[in-house]
Order: sequence, then C-alpha cells, then structure tokens
Amino acid sequence: MAVKPPLVPNAKPLIGHALDIWQDPLKFFSAAARTAPLSRIKIGWKDACLISNHELLYQILVTDAKKYDKGIQYERARAMLGDGVLLAEGDLHFRQRRLMQPMFNKPSVNDYIDAMHTYSTAMVESWRDKEVVELYPEFYRLATRVVIDTLFSTIMSDADVELVRAKMPVVIAGIEKRGALPPRLFDTIPTPENRAFYSAIADLRGLGDRLVDDRLSMNRDGDARTDLMDVLTDTEDEITRRDNDRAQILNEFLTFLTAGSETTPSAIAWSCYLLAKHPEIQEQVRAEVGEFDLNADNTVQAIQQLSLLHAVVKEALRLYPPVWALGRRSLEEISLGGYDLPSGTQVFYSVYAIQRDSTVYEDPDEFKPRRWIDTPKKYPRSAFLPFGAGVRNCIGEHFAWIEISIAIVNILQRYELSLQPGQQVPPAAMGALVPGALPVRLRSVVPR
Ligand code: HEM
Repeated sequence: MAVKPPLVPNAKPLIGHALDIWQDPLKFFSAAARTAPLSRIKIGWKDACLISNHELLYQILVTDAKKYDKGIQYERARAMLGDGVLLAEGDLHFRQRRLMQPMFNKPSVNDYIDAMHTYSTAMVESWRDKEVVELYPEFYRLATRVVIDTLFSTIMSDADVELVRAKMPVVIAGIEKRGALPPRLFDTIPTPENRAFYSAIADLRGLGDRLVDDRLSMNRDGDARTDLMDVLTDTEDEITRRDNDRAQILNEFLTFLTAGSETTPSAIAWSCYLLAKHPEIQEQVRAEVGEFDLNADNTVQAIQQLSLLHAVVKEALRLYPPVWALGRRSLEEISLGGYDLPSGTQVFYSVYAIQRDSTVYEDPDEFKPRRWIDTPKKYPRSAFLPFGAGVRNCIGEHFAWIEISIAIVNILQRYELSLQPGQQVPPAAMGALVPGALPVRLRSVVPR
C-alpha cells in the first residue's frame, strides 16, 4: 500500500478536521502547516493534502499545472459564478483568458487610472479632519465602483453598491466553508445559513442580470474606450461569439464583480492599518508620495516608481494575503513531495502560512517593508504568491497594484492615519482575509 503523508493531529471521527476549519480556518491552517511540508487532513471522512512548502506549491501551480483542476472549493462557487474565467477549465478557460488578457495589460490599465483617481478622490474628500473612519467598508465601496466602471462602463448606484457589500461576503464566506465540508452533506438542509447563502446568490445574480441588461442597451456612440463588455460581445470570431452567450456574459460580469470587490479593499485596508501602526514608516511614504501628481504622472510606469509605497503594499500582501487559502485537485496520479498520490487528490494550501515561513523570511510576522528594497533577491518567487502563479494567476494583478497605490497616495497626501493606543485588529478569514473592525483616526496634513 502506498505510504500516506502524515495526518494533522486531532481529526474527529466522521467529520475529520471540518469543524476546526469551519470555526477558525486561519488558526487551523497555520497550526497544521507545522506538521510537515506535505501533510494529510480529513474533510469529513475523506483525505485531502495540505501543502505547507512553497516549492511544492510552485510545482502544483506552475510546473505541473496541467495535472490539476481547481477542485472542491471552486465547485462550490459555481452556483454564483458559473463558468466565468475564474472557474472555467481547459479550452474554455484558455480562450476566455486570451480574449480578456489585453484588457489587463499595462496600456489598458493606464486607461483606468482616471476612474481610479476620481473615485478615490471622492472617497477621501468625503472624510473630515479628526474623524474616526471605519476603513474597510469605504474601500469595499471604492473597489466595487472602480471595477464595474472601468471594465463595464457602468456607474453603480449607492443602493446597488450596498447590496453587493451586504451579500457578497455572505456568498464568499459560504463558499469557503462549503469547501471544507464533505460534499453535499449540509448543502441541502434548509438551515438559516444555507438559506442566507442561496438567497444572497440569487440577489447578486439578479443585480448582475439587471446591470448587464442596462449595459447592453446603453448607447455608447460617444464613448471611444473599448471596455471588457465590448471585448466579450463585439467579436468577429465565431467560437468566441458562441462561448459568450448572454448566460456566459452574466457569469463573467459576476466573476469580475466578485474578484474585484472582495480582494483589493482588503489589501488597501491592511496597508493602511500597517502604516497607522508604524507612524515612522507612514511619514517616509508620505514624503515619497507628497509631490506625486496623480493628474500629471498618471501612468502605470510612474506609479510603479514609488518604491517605498510599493514595498509597503508588498509587505502587506505578504502578511495579509487577501486570497489566503486555495486548493487544487489532481487529474492523474501524481508524485509530490516524495509521495505517490492518486488521481482525484484534493490539495489545499494556505498562502498566509507559506508567506510567514520562518525558513524563508526572517522575522516572518513582522512588518518590514524595506526587506523588498534592501534584499529582494533573498526571497524566491515561489514564497510570495498573493496573486497566485502559472496559467491561473490573477488576471487583475496590475489593475490591483495601481488601484491600491492610487488610493494610498490620495489618502496619505491628505491625512495622517492613527490607531488607538493598544488597538488590536485581528484578521478574519471571511473568504477573503479582512480586518475585523478597523476604526482609524484621521488628521489633515494639508489645510483644507
Ligand atoms: C489585491 C487584489 C487581488 C488579489 C490578492 C487577487 C488574487 C488572486 C488569486 C490568488 C488568483 C488565482 C486563484 C487561483 O490560483 O485559483 C486570482 C485570480 C483571478 N483574479 Fe485576482 N486578485 C486581486 C485583484 C483582482 C482584480 C482587481 C481583478 C479584476 C479586475 C481580479 C480578477 C481575477 C480573475 C478574473 C481571476 C481568475 C484568472 C484565471 O483563472 O485565469 N483580481 N486573483
């Protein structure tokens, strides 16, 4: 019989580790990562593997990517996203990704800078000197408006933004939790949690349907800019036209609504939290961005020159990766970390745990942005994976970097951010890794 990877301690009969994962996933995966580079966990009575070593993870995501599909967590997301590009597999994924990629390359992202700047300026201008602002909801609204305006030329109403803010976290947390449950065990029982999950999906799909209809019937004669909706619908290519029927267009709309609204706010919020907690670094970043003119220097290249800001965001993404745990499933027998694993093996990995590996990062739990300026070569590519890697990496990576940077430049040019003495902000793994309550006090740094 093939040797199995070591089992993470404390598996319970029938449910395995499911309850521990359900109750505190971050704690479970971080503790379990210490068992072995490749260990075994039990999802109910089924075995799954846990990858806690960055090189093994890179093998899965990049070197052997063809041997895996996305697996159980993603199957649970299908009720929300259908076959949008995040979940599509094989040829459909290849075609959709190739079709959309140009909209996320640097020249296209340059076109989004004005909208990103306009929305984040409106956000900071609604704040007041000495006010205490709960930051995460502010950034959630910002990111939701930005992604839908830039990619679908649609200005969302306040009510629609609030609907997304209320319902999307219910869906995302529900998907995450269902990924750690034995298949279909609890899905069909009409518990309050199940009802809330399916009704939030229905509300968001209903909203998406309405916004897609509105966008498709929009008269855009005067609008020269090609958006993602044009790319999905205006194609000369017959296969692409067949791929993108009305149902698939809705799936793609919801995919970008989800991917754009659930991740970037977390990255901006954690960056601001760390800056508020480290006032001396905040001052240094403010000195760097103080003179930066977002109206004039509005290119991806110019924004990327802000090296300390870049290092701060990178360190925030290392300590608090918004997409903190994911999985894959093998499509054939695989050899991994010295084990022969059968086809259909579900593997999970926690980017949160991997990016705090003390064998890679000295002082792994500390915020040290200068590590990315002083010794960047010390850290292997495989040990920094907030945007994933390989063919399924994040298509929105440049988009996100620029959106995050613009928001922080706007904030620091106007306000000093501070926390209450001793204020703790524990991370909550609500699907995305988000800050719990994050009230931050603002003090104007320029006369207003
Ligand atoms: C800080 C912000 C973001 C983070 C940390 C992030 C993270 C990720 C990660 C880890 C993946 C890979 C998932 C996997 O390997 O299974 C991914 C995929 C994806 N992301 Fe992002 N993302 C961010 C922002 C965005 C934005 C702003 C957009 C859209 C505008 C976006 C759109 C997507 C899409 C469509 C995919 C699926 C790509 C594919 O499978 O081909 N993301 N993202």
